[in-house]
Amino acid sequence: MKHFLTLKDYSKEEILEIIDLAIQIKKETKEKVFKNYLPKQTLGMIFEKSSTRTRVSFETGIYQLGGTGLFLSSNDIQLGRGEPIKDTSRVISSMTDMIMIRNDSQDELEEFASYSKVPIINGLTDKYHPVQLMADYMTILEHGLRDNTIAAYVGDGNNMTHSWLMLASKLGFDLRVATPKGYEVDKTILDEALEFAKISGAKITITNDPKEAVKNATVVTTDTWVSMGQEDEKEKRLKDFEGFIVDKNLMNLADNKAIFLHCLPAYRNYEVSEEIFEQNSETIFSEAENRLHAQKGIMVYLDRNRNND
Ligand code: CP
Ligand code: NVA
Repeated sequence: MKHFLTLKDYSKEEILEIIDLAIQIKKETKEKVFKNYLPKQTLGMIFEKSSTRTRVSFETGIYQLGGTGLFLSSNDIQLGRGEPIKDTSRVISSMTDMIMIRNDSQDELEEFASYSKVPIINGLTDKYHPVQLMADYMTILEHGLRDNTIAAYVGDGNNMTHSWLMLASKLGFDLRVATPKGYEVDKTILDEALEFAKISGAKITITNDPKEAVKNATVVTTDTWVSMGQEDEKEKRLKDFEGFIVDKNLMNLADNKAIFLHCLPAYRNYEVSEEIFEQNSETIFSEAENRLHAQKGIMVYLDRNRNND
């Protein structure tokens, strides 16, 4: 049985298979064809942190596939009062068919998965946000950039950056990452990505210079400078990230047809200027919508994989 905890566990072929499935299901959804891919299945959705996109897309997605979503805020279940992860996992996985978790610890997510009888999906941890990257890559493909993805990530070396590293190094496209000094990506994750890149041919560049990263890029992306849980560091971070805004001056260095992606929520005039955000809003909001379609692909893939066991 496969889980979806990090793209590290997935081959290029598997990632593309899920994306193809997502594209097919998106087409069906747009034609108002709702096939019962997961009839009567229940998706447990455990949230220890806030969410707009992840919650709405998973809940709508499982419903459109023929199942139902169960929203479980960790404040409302015994997990939030200290019931052990391994007990929570064994209970919830005995009553549901799949579980999505958003929490603050990749290690705890993996512990949960190790006790689960059903597939677990990472809905964001401190380390990774893999479901977001599946939607992002779908959006890249929809812009005809399959053979010409030169991605530049400008900002904090965080869960999004780590997932970009995994995606690029597995699929074999160029990725430049520019972070301020002191906000670099996790060294272990970078080393793993560099190993995958040797096989895939990805070119990974790490720099502290946004201009170097963005030069001739076909995809420019960023994320908030203050992730959930880092609110106390906000003042310091806003100072440390000066010069890392994606604005007109920076975008002008990219390829003239470059697209701008943002996982959202976006903080205008911090990581991205209002102007660049609004100029690219069609792409950004179709990226957000692709969360729905990409995750349907993931859920159907995980179910098929389980049935094959
Ligand atoms: N991008 C993303 O995961 O958004 P939410 O935090 O709203 O789910
Ligand atoms: N890096 C952000 C992503 C939000 C979708 C966070 O973890 O808060």
